[in-house]
Amino acid sequence: MISPETIEKIMDTARIEEVIGEFVTLKKRGVNLIGLCPFHNEKTPSFSVSAPKGIFKCFGCGKGGNVVNFLMEHEHYTYPEALRYLAQKYSIEIEEEKPTPEQQKAMDEKESLFNLSAFAQKYFEQQLHESEEGKSVGLTYLKERGFSTGQIKKFGLGYCPGKWDDFTQKALKQGYKKEYLIKSSLSKTKDHLLYDSFRGRIIFPIHNLSGRVLGFGARILTNDKKRPKYINSAESEIYHKSKALYGIYFAKSPMASADNCYLVEGYTDVISLHQAGVENVVASSGTALGPDQIKLIRRYTSNVTLLFDSDPAGIKAAFRGIDMILEEGLNVRIVLFPEGEDPDSYARKYRPAEVREYLDSQAKDFISFKTGMLARESKNDPIKKAGIIKEIARTISLMPEPIARTIYVQKCSEMMKIGENLLMGEINKIRRQKRQRKSSQLIQHEKGPVSVPPQDQMHGEGRPGVEENASQEKELIRLMLHYGGHEIVFEVENENKHTEKVNIRVADFIVQDIESDNLELENSQCQKIFREFSAQVNNDKLPDNKFFTSHEDSGVRKLAVDLLSEPHTLSKNWGHRHKIYIKEEEEDLKPRVLQAIYAFKLKKLEQMIAENRREIKELGDKEEPGAESRLLELIATGRDLLSKRSLFAAALNRVVTR
Ligand code: GTP
Ligand code: MN
Repeated sequence: MISPETIEKIMDTARIEEVIGEFVTLKKRGVNLIGLCPFHNEKTPSFSVSAPKGIFKCFGCGKGGNVVNFLMEHEHYTYPEALRYLAQKYSIEIEEEKPTPEQQKAMDEKESLFNLSAFAQKYFEQQLHESEEGKSVGLTYLKERGFSTGQIKKFGLGYCPGKWDDFTQKALKQGYKKEYLIKSSLSKTKDHLLYDSFRGRIIFPIHNLSGRVLGFGARILTNDKKRPKYINSAESEIYHKSKALYGIYFAKSPMASADNCYLVEGYTDVISLHQAGVENVVASSGTALGPDQIKLIRRYTSNVTLLFDSDPAGIKAAFRGIDMILEEGLNVRIVLFPEGEDPDSYARKYRPAEVREYLDSQAKDFISFKTGMLARESKNDPIKKAGIIKEIARTISLMPEPIARTIYVQKCSEMMKIGENLLMGEINKIRRQKRQRKSSQLIQHEKGPVSVPPQDQMHGEGRPGVEENASQEKELIRLMLHYGGHEIVFEVENENKHTEKVNIRVADFIVQDIESDNLELENSQCQKIFREFSAQVNNDKLPDNKFFTSHEDSGVRKLAVDLLSEPHTLSKNWGHRHKIYIKEEEEDLKPRVLQAIYAFKLKKLEQMIAENRREIKELGDKEEPGAESRLLELIATGRDLLSKRSLFAAALNRVVTR
């Protein structure tokens, strides 16, 4: 238990800009500091830190608070963990009120694991530098590999003795619990006996952003092909391998100042490059690069250079890495090393200046890299060439930024001698298909009903009654006109069972959702506006409202002006309440969008049901061959429509009465 006096002292000493500056690159703007928000995806900074007030606030996602709140939110610390972190950073001695046995027992599992990892790291390091075995086996090996003492110390490398359980015994004697030894996978059990997992291996501690040890990689010293070369800490409360990057603690400032991150495969690659003076380097260490790791990099730079071996496995990994990085909106370049070399071996063979020269001169953008690689296989075969173009179009389609896509389309069309429009068309097609899949997934995640059967094409414009009765369609259009560019947020579960926030623009969401059901708006003015939105949105643009208010079709003009000046089709509160209404609506957009979509689809369903009834009735009056089976079909369809209708009605009711 930390005493209240200590807490006060910590809060008085801690400087929020310094603490947050460890995790976010901040730039001065006026009296505040700004940066890219670490809590949501953004490309322009809306995260602001006020040093005099001691607070942070993101104007994008709304997160805010004091320095302790930041650490709790960002590092997932508990309140006492955050205070301890600050106390350590500012060398404040913590006066503890001695914990009761119960409190001791309840001590957070994470903190126990962190403490144990710190103890283990010190133990391994000491073994490497001070024990006979460590020196003669471990240190000799590292020295033979050419690692300098400086780098060995900087990365806190260590050695675990070959004895059965020396580490485990020392840890137990220090009071670390068996439970945590096993949870951290530092120890294993056999016949109820505990033994050291990393026996006889070189230890590479893996640090988090703030320099705490999360886990370890451990390398064997022999060429024993039967045993794994590396073993790593198992997943635990503190170590999630999809979120860790080896070297991130040492690379974060160099990454920010170089505005580039080198991404390598292994621990030794990171260390050797550091030794060659390249410090903006991290490794994904054995796991395939994932989105959480890329997001970690993005806090410091939006440029990644992949360094890979030129063996088939390396090239395959590079291809995968390219897609992942582009998809997160970062720029990617690739450096391939000569056959049989990795960054570590290359850095040992050549002088530091030569290594840096190699990195600079060999870095290729991904199109040159991919065409180079694929063309090697395909020579001048036109069918293969078409395959390459498709593959590159697929990769470009992953890039979220339209401007970036345009630039790469130009580049690719030049290199592959193919028309820009053709390529852009292909890319937009891929993006449209993907988006349609996504929007229905988003609704599904909210447990909402998804699709309405496509309407027969015989219904369409010009049907009687449609023009007067278009309030649902107008509401959709109104939302797109007013808030098309606003983002709404869905929470979805990703493959790793973590919930992830997905932001999507209102216009995109509505267009995708309606189009993925192949539904059409029927009111001809609404339809014109909708189609314009659809065309623009599929290129990541938005129509300017002026386009509609000065449209050649006077009906479109009138509708746009009406909808833009009216706060709500159903609301008659024009006048001084207008602004208030808009503000409320803006803050409550998602349910309103869902409401409009559900209402529109419900209307469609009702039309389909009426149509179905009419057809059944008509058929019942006739006596034709085959009428009976057609009748059964229609009845089944009708039943299906009715059950869909009740789903949508319930969903509509939920969003309206929530
Ligand atoms: P050195 O041979 O010491 O230079 O290591 P390296 O980093 O060059 O190894 P390699 O290129 O074979 O592998 C790259 C990375 O993959 C390593 O740094 C490890 O993180 C991981 N890795 C390699 N072998 C194994 C293994 O047998 N098991 C596991 N879990 N990871 C491995
Ligand atoms: Mn290697």
